Amino acid sequence: MASRTTDNEPFDAPKTYDLYRHAKQRIPGGVQLFSKWPERHAPDQWPAYFREAHGCETWDLDGNHFYDMSTNSVGACLLGFRDPDVTEAVKRRLELGSMCSLNPPEEVELADLLCEIHPWAQQVRYARTGGEAMAIAVRIARATTDRSLVAVCGYHGWHDWYLAANLGDSDALRGHLLPGLDPLGVPRELRGTVLPFKYNNLAEFQQIIEQHGDQLAAVVMEPCRGYDPQPGFLESIRDEIHQRGGLLIFDEVSIAWRLCLGGAHLRLGVNPDIAVFAKAMGNGHPIAAIIGTSEAMVGARRSFISSSYWTESIGPTAALATLQKMQRIDVPAYVAGIGRQLQDQWRRAAQKYEVPLVVADSYPCAPGFHFNHELNEELRTLFTQLMLDRGFLAGNSISVTLAHTEQIVAHYGEALDEVMAELAEALACGEVQERLRGPVAIWDFGRLM
Ligand SMILES: Cc1ncc(COP(=O)(O)O)c(C=O)c1O
Repeated sequence: MASRTTDNEPFDAPKTYDLYRHAKQRIPGGVQLFSKWPERHAPDQWPAYFREAHGCETWDLDGNHFYDMSTNSVGACLLGFRDPDVTEAVKRRLELGSMCSLNPPEEVELADLLCEIHPWAQQVRYARTGGEAMAIAVRIARATTDRSLVAVCGYHGWHDWYLAANLGDSDALRGHLLPGLDPLGVPRELRGTVLPFKYNNLAEFQQIIEQHGDQLAAVVMEPCRGYDPQPGFLESIRDEIHQRGGLLIFDEVSIAWRLCLGGAHLRLGVNPDIAVFAKAMGNGHPIAAIIGTSEAMVGARRSFISSSYWTESIGPTAALATLQKMQRIDVPAYVAGIGRQLQDQWRRAAQKYEVPLVVADSYPCAPGFHFNHELNEELRTLFTQLMLDRGFLAGNSISVTLAHTEQIVAHYGEALDEVMAELAEALACGEVQERLRGPVAIWDFGRLM
């Protein structure tokens, strides 16, 4: 299974490391997604490439085996990698042909299913990635209302409409956008078109409404990310934007399906005019959906929104298999249960070894922690290094999946115990930096560019 013969030994991955060294010459930045940058996890140590993935297990190009106790593909594979039911459905469709001059019927079946799960919505469009789907949602809102401005809260991808919020004022999205991201290449003319406000800060939102309410096409926000909104926050935003003739768009790209079948808004009891899904919806196959009321989606017909690969069949086929499986199995309850076990393990180990690890007060379906210490980044990197040595891809948060069994969690707990003991020792001896075999992980995206 693994090329390592003994546990807890530094592992070697020459093929995997060589390919990444080469990639950095060939591919600007080395990878396509910030979150999959090895430098974000443990520079010179984190394996950049996978040969194979299954459940929550991964093999790198050298055959090293890891349990994924990290992002599980940035939360995209909620059922686990290569889920057998989704893979089977995709294989069947592949054998019939994935692309054709005609359209895939699965897109209609999927639209019906999405509207059944969301009785407030009547219409559906598709894309293949979250950021792209968000750009479509904003285009639709602008076309429907014939207005330009957008109030925004949260992270919504890499597109011009969103990064415009950082134009001319690098602090505009602090606490919203990933710090350090530069809107270089975004037309300056978009300045002032996107107006950010902070989550749970109604006063900030009110200010935008007072100054620009009648020009707003939409409020674009995640209904929640790590915790519930304050009572009345979402309702007030919905009521205000509706009174001003704009639309409410919920970005459910990351939280949907994980927290609640159909999305966080169903749990929180606030319906938007448009909701956007991606990531977990296809369980690793590219598919995104923009769903909305017939009134809100008027702009989808009027505006030119069209792309060749939105017509392939694998995405909707995978989404149908994924959502149907989620209708059979209560995935949110399962991942929350596993997440609570992980939170308990972290708390117990931190207490046992007196390591300054603080468990985030967030939804257990995506639990996390940080080190409350001046060497926070060094400690996190050393944690990742020591967990890699024990066969785990691990950082300070976990996107739990259906494939994380109690047995795997127990195995992780044993490794965690050893690693916490070593962190405590490194802290006591003042050797945290010395014990790192590579540079400290990079948190600030800006430095990676
Ligand atoms: C809330 C939210 N919206 C949009 C996006 C962008 O999605 P994608 O990476 O598929 O373009 C992300 C990605 O992390 C996200 O978390």
